[in-house]
Amino acid sequence: MAPALRSSLVLVLLSGLVASGIPRSPLRPLGKRSVPEGVVDGIEVYSTKINCQVTSRFAHNVVTTRAVNRADTAKEVSFDVELPKTAFITNFTLTIDGVTYPGNIKEKEVAKKQYEKAVSQGKTAGLVKASGRKLEKFTVSVNVAAGSKVTFELTYEELLKRHKGKYEMYIKVQPKQLVKHFEINTDIFEPQGISMLDAEASFITNDLLGSALTKSFSGKKGHVSFKPSLDQQRSCPTCTDSLLNGDFTITYDVNRESPANVQVVNGYFVHFFAPQGLPVVPKNVVFVIDVSGSMFGRKIEQTKDALLKILEDMKEDDSLNFILFSGDVTTWKDNLIQATPENLQEARTFVKSIRDQGMTNINDGLLTGISMLNKAREEHQVPERSTSIIIMLTDGDANTGESRPEKIQENVRNAIGGKFPLYNLGFGHNLNYNFLEKMALENHGLARRIYEDSDANLQLQGFYEEVANPLLTDVEVEYPENAILDLTQNNYQHFYDGSEIVVAGRLLDEDMASFKADVKGHGAINDLTFTEEVNMKEMEKALQEQEYIFGDYIERLWAYLTIKQLLEKRKNAHGDKKENLTAQALDLSLKYHFVTPLTSMVVTKPEDSEDQTSIADKPGEVPLDAEARSVIPSMAYQTSYQPPQKPYYYVDGDPHFIIQVPEKDDALCFNIDEAPGTVLRLIQDPVTGLTINGQIIGDKRDSPDSKSRKTYFGKLGIISTPMHLLIEVTTEEINLWSGAVRDAFTWLDTVTVTQEGLKVTINKKKNMVVSFGDGVTFVVILHQVWKKHPDQQDFLGFYVVDSHRMSAQTHGLLGQFFHYFDFKVSDIRPGSDPTKPDATMVVKNHRLTVTRGSQKDYGKGASLGTKVACWFIHNNAEGLIDGVHTDYIVPSLF
Ligand SMILES: *[C@@H]1O[C@H](CO)[C@@H](O)[C@H](O)[C@H]1NC(C)=O
Ligand SMILES: *[C@@H]1O[C@H](CO)[C@@H](O)[C@H](O)[C@H]1NC(C)=O
Repeated sequence: MAPALRSSLVLVLLSGLVASGIPRSPLRPLGKRSVPEGVVDGIEVYSTKINCQVTSRFAHNVVTTRAVNRADTAKEVSFDVELPKTAFITNFTLTIDGVTYPGNIKEKEVAKKQYEKAVSQGKTAGLVKASGRKLEKFTVSVNVAAGSKVTFELTYEELLKRHKGKYEMYIKVQPKQLVKHFEINTDIFEPQGISMLDAEASFITNDLLGSALTKSFSGKKGHVSFKPSLDQQRSCPTCTDSLLNGDFTITYDVNRESPANVQVVNGYFVHFFAPQGLPVVPKNVVFVIDVSGSMFGRKIEQTKDALLKILEDMKEDDSLNFILFSGDVTTWKDNLIQATPENLQEARTFVKSIRDQGMTNINDGLLTGISMLNKAREEHQVPERSTSIIIMLTDGDANTGESRPEKIQENVRNAIGGKFPLYNLGFGHNLNYNFLEKMALENHGLARRIYEDSDANLQLQGFYEEVANPLLTDVEVEYPENAILDLTQNNYQHFYDGSEIVVAGRLLDEDMASFKADVKGHGAINDLTFTEEVNMKEMEKALQEQEYIFGDYIERLWAYLTIKQLLEKRKNAHGDKKENLTAQALDLSLKYHFVTPLTSMVVTKPEDSEDQTSIADKPGEVPLDAEARSVIPSMAYQTSYQPPQKPYYYVDGDPHFIIQVPEKDDALCFNIDEAPGTVLRLIQDPVTGLTINGQIIGDKRDSPDSKSRKTYFGKLGIISTPMHLLIEVTTEEINLWSGAVRDAFTWLDTVTVTQEGLKVTINKKKNMVVSFGDGVTFVVILHQVWKKHPDQQDFLGFYVVDSHRMSAQTHGLLGQFFHYFDFKVSDIRPGSDPTKPDATMVVKNHRLTVTRGSQKDYGKGASLGTKVACWFIHNNAEGLIDGVHTDYIVPSLF
């Protein structure tokens, strides 16, 4: 069979090039003539397969379509794929009758010349064009000889972004005719484990699709497949046209037990960060709204509608104001106003009264908003721990006042001075979006297009929801200084609930045994540091099971992020700096085979040396490591407090209280035997206002016999009255209440929380160190027992490692021993157990019989117990403690 293309075939995939002058005849069903099933205009598309492989949010998608020309003349076959705008094409090949034409990445200028040459010679060419809101369209058509077969294979990659708590992957489905083998296959691998996964098609309900759609997930793996039979593809039982036309959307999220996850493969690492359970930082929001004449009609009504909905979502701690600009600037209030119910009511009345008028003065509108936010901060009108955001909406270009884009950008940049982000929303297409985007990017924000459509109000609201819940501000991700190279962006003004921060980089030393990553940020009530200790060996071991993932995904993810960020920076750069950024982005695009705005893909016939010679191709390209080596993060234990300084008090195990008395170089110990549920007062200091209570839990069997019953502390309550602070520690989680605001953590976090006079460090699965300034430090040790243990369960140990700032009035089962007391031991004699002598102790004017014994000290870690010899006081420490032990029972933890 003669190949359709005899001489050279040149396809150039250029993004953003206008499709003029390209001969193309779209496929149209013939209708009248009876043709075999699935054949339209002589062409049978007999197979379309979309294979998606997602590894740690990085999606690698391959679309393969096979067709045959059943007509008796040559036909044009076209291949259209719509792919996310955020994706980069990485490969395209065309196979005609067994001859493969591979795609090569070229610098755009070089590729463009080839493209022009091809077009001028009447040859066919591929194009990538914007299409709709989220997608862009890749189109290519080739002439196929009668009886010949053609295969198109397009590959694209993207990093899935987390929005409102999930990752979303769109696949546009539009086969235009019935396809014998139509299939979408998605495999997801997430080292953190998958917590939810869903798939739906916009063109039909899942119920109707029945067996065509399968979705499942378990552990780290998820799978979605959509494989409609020919009959299931028909738009009606007797129809020959396809109902498959729309979006196929896969959504999923991963487990969030740990706030961060670090993965290292082949010397590249990626660090995902999305803490849960933090309180929302109050926001100071200024809406700068275009009310110029062009907003007239539906646009202004939709804007008002969206603003009214946004007002419903405002939290009482938030502050807000509206600035309307047309030719003039109008402000709702002179200053920011707190979002109290009364003020919101007034805001609603104001929003409803908004009318369009006149020209567009973007400059003055923005500058008014910025100075209001600056003033609110300087004059302390807003809380110290609040964050400012400016949201501007416009539908046109500046046309009055200062209207030169560069000048507006400069004014805005100087006024904001990097202090808060600017979000620009461009309504419709009649505006300079480029300018809005540049301005937002250089002020740590982003631009979003609002499409003029019936759902514009929902788009506006949706954008607001994304930024409505900042959990951290001034987020910085830090790594050991001399260990990391080529880091992607590692500081962010905000971490918004439902999103995720992703940082990637390269390790200087691939054989490094471990490294530590810290994420620092300001929360609503305190400063937080999340620490992730990555142990490479353990990681490597843990991920050896997954052979099927592609081994260089982290390196590609890093390259993808780096190129995106270089291209963004380039938008606002000039001169040498711009050239340098361009050169770096181009190098990486060529090296990693990404079709970016700087590169194009050229498809040439392999034996056709004529067209190859003029092109400087980068050899080698992506190192494909056949052995997929991956790794999982693990936490190494850090001892983050000083070795105990004596005196030293603690309670651990079947409540065993230990009082070390350094003056005597000896220790006393006792048990308190009480029923599960009882809360005991361990420490109470009326001067510092600190109280610590502990609640007793039993073992799983819950024996009624108090002699054989084992009890432990299962819950601790730490209270600081002057700080309005409560810390509740259980064997599962740790909650910090500052007034009514709660920070929630689990024992899977490694995090440091700091605020005036307080520092709390949680070391994943190990311990928690709480310091109240200098001179008061407690350590809570987590004892985890084997989950299937017949009778034991997890419990807590409580250690006082520093108490020298506690007052002389401190009391409680442990606290009463913080001040000096004396005891004398005499008449040491054999006891009932020959290894444990008895003795007589005189203490607090009581004469007691005590027994020599030992207790374990787990202060250095639950697995590192050391024996401590002590004198055991019987009968719930009767005679040693002031009063009787039941005097220390309190009604509740707080
Ligand atoms: C592009 O795809 C073809 C066909 O699957 C494959 O042979 C080739 O190796 C790919 N090129 C790159 C750079 O991945
Ligand atoms: C860009 O500039 C940096 C220093 O500022 C230099 O190290 C690097 O080589 C330059 N890159 C390119 C591609 O010119």
